Amino acid sequence: MKIIMLGAPGAGKGTQAKQIAAKYDIPHISTGDIFRANIKNNTELGQKAKTYMDQGLLVPDELTCDLVVDRIQQDDCKTGFVLDGFPRTIPQAEALENALAKLGQSMDYAIDVDVPDENIVNRMSGRRACLKCGATYHIVSIPPKKEGVCDNCGSELVIRDDDKPETVQKRLNVYHEQTQPLIDFYSNKGILKSVDGTQPMDRVFADIVNILGA
Ligand code: AP5
Ligand code: MG
Ligand code: ZN
Repeated sequence: MKIIMLGAPGAGKGTQAKQIAAKYDIPHISTGDIFRANIKNNTELGQKAKTYMDQGLLVPDELTCDLVVDRIQQDDCKTGFVLDGFPRTIPQAEALENALAKLGQSMDYAIDVDVPDENIVNRMSGRRACLKCGATYHIVSIPPKKEGVCDNCGSELVIRDDDKPETVQKRLNVYHEQTQPLIDFYSNKGILKSVDGTQPMDRVFADIVNILGA
């Protein structure tokens, strides 16, 4: 099963993608997580990506597409994968489509997690992330058992550099300009499904399982 998660920054793509990956036993591929891991390890890719990410801008397609196209051809992707945060532009969607076509494949679902802008800023200001294992919390709706500490791995939780309110607003603008057109793109391909992302997280997941099948 090959799935794309669509949705605004903070809509819950990552939260849902992790659960999908666990339930259907497929890899969770988050370009944001890959860039953040590269920043943490101070790689050349990380240094390049950081200048864009800190401003709330998209990392250029040429740094992003090859990375994903390589990743989805690895062995663990044979039975499928869930893409989180990619594609984010029409050229990225086309690059993905072309790469899969060469393998005689295509995407099965694009799931749009729909959350209005009003809800987003609040969610982001409460988000806490574990940079070690990728777990995400919210200080009010999904708190860790011990404040500031990851339930999974015991590492310290941090506020992401791009979660400052002014950067969040910038990311929302970028989303509407560059990523939202993908909703029509995948609707035209006949694979778009929409879920109400303002519901509690387990209800959103139940709606997704309804779409994908148990
Ligand atoms: P990325 O890491 O993909 O960030 P994003 O799209 O802005 O999305 P987020 O990760 O912020 O939100 P999410 O939808 O995953 O929500 P989450 O589950 O965490 O990208 C970061 C940057 O990297 C980009 O700005 C760009 O610069 C670059 N980049 C990445 N991919 C790129 C690409 N393909 N091309 C170019 N550049 C790229 O949830 C948010 C919060 O809400 C959490 O605290 C969570 O606990 C909480 N929450 C989740 N669900 C619920 C719920 N149902 N109810 C209440 N709270 C909830
Ligand atoms: Mg995410
Ligand atoms: Zn952790």
